Amino acid sequence: MSGNIVLRIKNVDKTFGGLHALGDINLEIEEGKTHAIIGPNGAGKSTLLNVCIGRLEPDTGTVEFEGKNMIGMKPHEINHAGMVRVFQTPEIFPDLSVLENVMVPALAKRDGVFKFNALRSMASNTDIEAEAVHVLKDLGLGEYIHHHAGSMSRGDKRRLELAMGLVQHPRLLLLDEPTAGMARHDTNRTIDLLKRIKERGMTKIIIEHDMHVVFSLADRISVLAQGRIIADGTPDEIRGNPKVQEAYLGGAEL
Ligand SMILES: Nc1ncnc2c1ncn2[C@@H]1O[C@H](COP(=O)(O)OP(=O)(O)OP(=O)(O)O)[C@@H](O)[C@H]1O
Ligand SMILES: [Mg+2]
Repeated sequence: MSGNIVLRIKNVDKTFGGLHALGDINLEIEEGKTHAIIGPNGAGKSTLLNVCIGRLEPDTGTVEFEGKNMIGMKPHEINHAGMVRVFQTPEIFPDLSVLENVMVPALAKRDGVFKFNALRSMASNTDIEAEAVHVLKDLGLGEYIHHHAGSMSRGDKRRLELAMGLVQHPRLLLLDEPTAGMARHDTNRTIDLLKRIKERGMTKIIIEHDMHVVFSLADRISVLAQGRIIADGTPDEIRGNPKVQEAYLGGAEL
């Protein structure tokens, strides 16, 4: 029996000039699941994510989040509704402390204001501070709370970004290549963290090239190639699918 659908993408098309970046995309993301979107370079994965979070408007189609069509809404409105994306580009504040970095999105979420307005009201928010500390400790960043974010290692910065996303209590977390550029040690650590988040029932979409990460975390996998979904299924179904192997010919091993 299928569970509650958190995100429903229906008949989405997107062209850039003459390029058909997305063609008739239909996708359902089930509550509590980790849904991976994989595919060769240029397949349309980031374009699809950008459509979901309101950075791009599709030519046709709808994106329903918890039953409500998000098309036409601004990215910050979609974020406020509970769809949170991390890892697109490093969006930490390097000159603020690690703690302040996590308090900014927590305050923005609570007050519904833009991030730098939240900065002004940071001083007297002990409840938000306590929660930020809790999230940081949970991700193993407790010892860095008062460090400058800019001085952290690359792997720690990515964990900080994750903390900044988690403190917003997302209803749907969208992870755009969470382990890109990471050494194996940090990748494994990130897999463990994401597994723990999964155990708490958080719904996630993960775009990832590293098949070890994909097969460690995904409940379901959709494969994009040239703007179309060519396969959709459980990890076992995807692993054995000849169409998928063909799409990856010369690319990553499944
Ligand atoms: N703003 C844009 N204007 C024009 N073309 C674009 C734009 N954004 C993406 N494209 C094109 O759309 C296609 C899909 O790009 P997209 O970035 O979604 O692929 P991807 O699957 O995320 O690839 P990668 O794995 O390399 O990140 C590519 O051919 C890309 O060049
Ligand atoms: Mg991309």
